[in-house]
Amino acid sequence: MDIVVLAGGLSTERDVSFKTGSMVAQALKENGHRVIMLDVFMGYLDEETNLGDVFANADQISVKVGNITAEAPDLEKVKASRKDQSDCFFGPNVLQICRKADIVFMALHGENGENGKVQATFDLFGIKYTGSDYLSSAIAMNKDLAKKVFATEGVPSPKGVALSRKNRQDDPDLLGVSLPCVVKPCAGGSSIGVTIANTKEEFKAALDDAFHWEDEIVIEEYIKGREFSVGVLEGKALPVIEIAPITGFYDYKNKYKAGSAVETCPADLPEETAKQMQAYAEAVAKAIGLDTYSRSDFLLQEDGSMYCLEANTLPGMTPTSLLPQEAAVVGMNFNQLCDHLIQISLK
Ligand code: DAL
Ligand code: MG
Repeated sequence: MDIVVLAGGLSTERDVSFKTGSMVAQALKENGHRVIMLDVFMGYLDEETNLGDVFANADQISVKVGNITAEAPDLEKVKASRKDQSDCFFGPNVLQICRKADIVFMALHGENGENGKVQATFDLFGIKYTGSDYLSSAIAMNKDLAKKVFATEGVPSPKGVALSRKNRQDDPDLLGVSLPCVVKPCAGGSSIGVTIANTKEEFKAALDDAFHWEDEIVIEEYIKGREFSVGVLEGKALPVIEIAPITGFYDYKNKYKAGSAVETCPADLPEETAKQMQAYAEAVAKAIGLDTYSRSDFLLQEDGSMYCLEANTLPGMTPTSLLPQEAAVVGMNFNQLCDHLIQISLK
């Protein structure tokens, strides 16, 4: 197949997206596909799919892979014309190039990529893509809305309130929030802008940080517990994985710095507990309509109560990411998983 691996963008998870994109592109090439990786924002192509330094290969003029030919844009011109980054999300020719592919593998993470807008655009252009549709993506991405859907399905999640910048209130008492609590951007990923606040001073600083990233935030009760994640493929849960950060919680540093967390799959849990978590992950996927793949994150308290934090529609996809580790436990290696995600997305 001719496949575009779409990565980059302008979200806070741009760098994470390049990690996913380069690994997926490499796997798909090894599987015999013809693959182009595209930075959705720059429209820049990297034939070697090694986007360690996206801008380093700026002199590349054009790339032909299978039926897809694409001109690399003049990077200086692009940068100059894109001083206003709100200009247009799609870089030069990105949509045209995607239209020529058999499918676009979504290696985007975060805003505009995970929130359904790219998916909706692709629908209008008749472009096929991996993963969830626009509406399911939008619901899952909004932590406040997703929590409401969890509740209708009887899936427990931490109690929380949403707060918008224009109604900002720095006093947790007036918000009915008790400390400690967790403050997070409403639609972010990779724990960027997430803070555990123990005091009123920390609460105010946490709001500053979260509002730095987004206009809408959520404030949740702090649940002290072990951290888990469950991938779901076509409605069926994979084995549960436990993530035990060496220090603190599973924040950005602990997610991406090697050796910062111990990950165990299958998790060391009583069978009933693991089954319950898997059932919740499946219920979440069904309720939101995440028909192809997703990964839901959980906390488990010492007393056995569990809470779903969120559903990720485009979970990290490097061989050491959580979903691929879970798939490996049921005998699907990373290359097989990448192809599998394409197959189920084309159904
Ligand atoms: N947001 C990151 C990529 C994840 O959920 O894996
Ligand atoms: Mg997430």
